Amino acid sequence: MNFSFNKKKDAVAFDIGSNSIKLVQMNRTKKGWELVKMGMADLPPEAIVDGSIIDSMTVTNTLRDLAKEHGVKVKDTVSSLTGHSVIIKKVSFPAMTDDELADSIQWEAEQYIPFPISDVNIDFQILGADAEGRGQMDVMLVAVKRDVINDYTNVIKEAGLNPVVIDVDSFALENMMEVNYPLPPGENIAMVNIGASITSISVIQGGITIFTRSIPMGGNQFTEEIQRQLNISFKDAEDLKTGAREPSEQEAQDLASALESVSTNLAFEVKRSMDFFLGGAHGSYMSKIFLSGGGSRIAGLQNLLQEKTSVPVEPVDPFKGIEANPKQFAPEKLKEAAPFFGVAVGLATRRFADR
Ligand SMILES: Nc1ncnc2c1ncn2[C@@H]1O[C@H](COP(=O)(O)OP(=O)(O)OP(=O)(O)O)[C@@H](O)[C@H]1O
Ligand SMILES: [Mg+2]
Repeated sequence: MNFSFNKKKDAVAFDIGSNSIKLVQMNRTKKGWELVKMGMADLPPEAIVDGSIIDSMTVTNTLRDLAKEHGVKVKDTVSSLTGHSVIIKKVSFPAMTDDELADSIQWEAEQYIPFPISDVNIDFQILGADAEGRGQMDVMLVAVKRDVINDYTNVIKEAGLNPVVIDVDSFALENMMEVNYPLPPGENIAMVNIGASITSISVIQGGITIFTRSIPMGGNQFTEEIQRQLNISFKDAEDLKTGAREPSEQEAQDLASALESVSTNLAFEVKRSMDFFLGGAHGSYMSKIFLSGGGSRIAGLQNLLQEKTSVPVEPVDPFKGIEANPKQFAPEKLKEAAPFFGVAVGLATRRFADR
């Protein structure tokens, strides 16, 4: 799934998150993929808010510095969007070919998009004949607000780079899974990516994303709750949350209670989305939840999620199946980075003669 502007070969992936930008570059080898470059740069909390770029200058400078720091020579970039600017829907259309649908998509899609069709870029993937078999087919429809795409492509261009693909986080995660984990056909697996401001949930069935949803909640909610309960600054709360600072004896109890209450809310929201999916026409069960995103590092969250959903939860390792020279990329560093790099690794596998 993408919005391609032209077709070239090598590209560098930038996952522009609200908390940090992640960079990944990989090489296609005979055996699979090899890690060439990876890096991460923090953004201040006000630069990107809920998936919208507020301070484009800061984002541009951070991008440019990150590329420079890692000696990135390639100009073409692959990035992604998530959250409320992205609408993904499974819909039913009359059976037709890919080319036919490409010609009529604007018209066909109009009724499913809650914005004027002229305000969005539309892409689709044909999933196959629909279950009822009445000359209809299932299609994954993706619409992204054009002004949001423009904001992201502009910061990339301003940084001296060339935006070639703007993908969607969930599809990047699907690609990341494909290169790292065997996906049993017919089974539903859930991807839960807990970022700083957005948690995205998607379901992959037989290698294809068939359901997505995003919740406007993530690591920031933990920090804000700590901030509230302990009456401290956002920065102090963030340090306590990430373990950069040890809590005092007095703080420890409030900290634990803040983490638990937000974890419970988040687990509930994830369960609600999964129940919604499972209650649909799919009538089956979830085999596993793969957990990613920096927000997933909250102590106890993984167990709580498993307990509340009764589905086994496994933290994702986006470098699992990727060759990495240990002299350049220390294994313990990769392990530490793993929760943050799911989307970026998926983006870096994109070679965009795809559509
Ligand atoms: N050790 C840790 N324990 C708990 N939370 C952590 C830890 N390290 C980082 N985080 C949190 O992870 C979040 C950042 O994760 P990530 O990099 O996946 O988000 P993002 O992609 O920048 O944001 P989004 O996708 O929501 O725009 C922040 O809220 C940060 O506080
Ligand atoms: Mg993110």
